[in-house]
Amino acid sequence: MNFEWKTELETGITGLDRQHKQIFNCISKFFQKCDEGAEAEELEQLFCSLDTYTREHFSYEENMQRYCKYPGLDEQQKQHALFLGDLNELKSFVGGNGTSREVTLRMKGNLIRWFNRHINLLDKEFVNFFNRQ
Ligand SMILES: [Fe+2]
Ligand SMILES: [Fe+2]
Repeated sequence: MNFEWKTELETGITGLDRQHKQIFNCISKFFQKCDEGAEAEELEQLFCSLDTYTREHFSYEENMQRYCKYPGLDEQQKQHALFLGDLNELKSFVGGNGTSREVTLRMKGNLIRWFNRHINLLDKEFVNFFNRQ
């Protein structure tokens, strides 16, 4: 699974792009540390940052959408909630007694796939709407 941030993921709205990149880097670092067999404490800290950045971003984005009465807000909220569900699943094994490489790879794949799809399909659709306002 390719982890590099690609410029094609940029939406052109600096605030959103900065937050997306921050979350992306956080996912990348988290799984890199998993591969390196980092201590649970370090993984917990990284998970905490990932969780915080993600929640901050979703609420920032949803507020923007609410403010400009974006008709796709419901769908965005549903999708955001799904991602938070995946993060919760990740959390359950961060504090546990380790995880298998198989589980880590699956989680990594899910998060990155979701992220790429979500930005390319939904967030970019919103940005098109926003730019037409
Ligand atoms: Fe979004
Ligand atoms: Fe977003």
